[in-house]
Amino acid sequence: MEEKLQLLEETATCEVEKAADLEELENLRVKYLGKSGEVTEILQNIGDLPPKQRPVVGKLGNKLKSKLESAIAEKKDELKKVAKEKRLKEEEIDVTLAGKRDDLGSKHPLTQVIDEISEIFLGLGFRIVEGPEVEKDYYNFEALNIPKAHPARDMQDSFYISEDILLRTHTSPVQVRTMEETDVPVRIIAPGRVYRVDEVDANHSPVFHQVEGLMIDKNISFSNLKGILIKVVKELFGEDREVRFRPSYFPFTEPSAEVDVSCALCGGEGCSTCSDTGWLEILGSGMVHPRVLEMSGLDPQKVSGFAFGMGIERIAILKYGITDIRRFYENDMRFLQQF
Ligand code: PHE
Repeated sequence: MEEKLQLLEETATCEVEKAADLEELENLRVKYLGKSGEVTEILQNIGDLPPKQRPVVGKLGNKLKSKLESAIAEKKDELKKVAKEKRLKEEEIDVTLAGKRDDLGSKHPLTQVIDEISEIFLGLGFRIVEGPEVEKDYYNFEALNIPKAHPARDMQDSFYISEDILLRTHTSPVQVRTMEETDVPVRIIAPGRVYRVDEVDANHSPVFHQVEGLMIDKNISFSNLKGILIKVVKELFGEDREVRFRPSYFPFTEPSAEVDVSCALCGGEGCSTCSDTGWLEILGSGMVHPRVLEMSGLDPQKVSGFAFGMGIERIAILKYGITDIRRFYENDMRFLQQF
């Protein structure tokens, strides 16, 4: 029996020493010291031995038990340390690895132009307002001195939702809405989308953008209109550009003028971009027609004002030298990333 214990001690300590991980060690503990482990069983069955052997085997068995217990505890500490080191190694981060970078987006060129125009007008004391894109016929035409049978409606055909509701053809209805709602003095700009029946080509799109402007106060004259628009155009295109006012016609302004900026490509000499005129048209403007003021509840004897409307695409095209209006709406990253 003593020999058996001796052998058991040798194999058990050897096995514990060799245990490769915590699981294996636990299995060894169960095998020798568990409820029906080999050492446990010897100690439990001591009663079956001849009385002379009992104290000897008991002593040796208990010694073996505690020896194994401390060997297992020691090995457990060691294996835990190894496991921890292994885990740390696996979780190690290589801070020198190249990072993943998210692509930064940028504002659409049309938004950039609207922002730039807005900044200029904010600096001149104007407010920014917005109006609905689905508009009443009254605001889009009637209140702008364009009655039902007026020929000016022909040039601004649009999508009609019903007899009196349509997709606005210009931002000018915001003039009327503002005059109805706010007291004089009025200084607003109104950027937004407008809609017209147009075949899509390099120069036309059925949806495009405008910025409307309106200034009303006592004693506003055509020189105020000129002063403000010259300043804005030069800020937008550069001090060295010439600005020209050309008589024109709009039913809601009188007198009316179209504003041209000198062609940047040829410096006014004439080239294909400016159709050999040396000038590029950028906006329509004029003194608000007395009838328009009246219809919106203002007294043309007491107040006057000017209005203008510019095409955002047109300005972006001229600023950045874009040759096809369709580029703005295609969401082609190669185009958009250039701005
Ligand atoms: N609404 C006009 C257009 O779309 C532009 C304009 C606005 C002209 C304000 C004069 C005054 O053509």
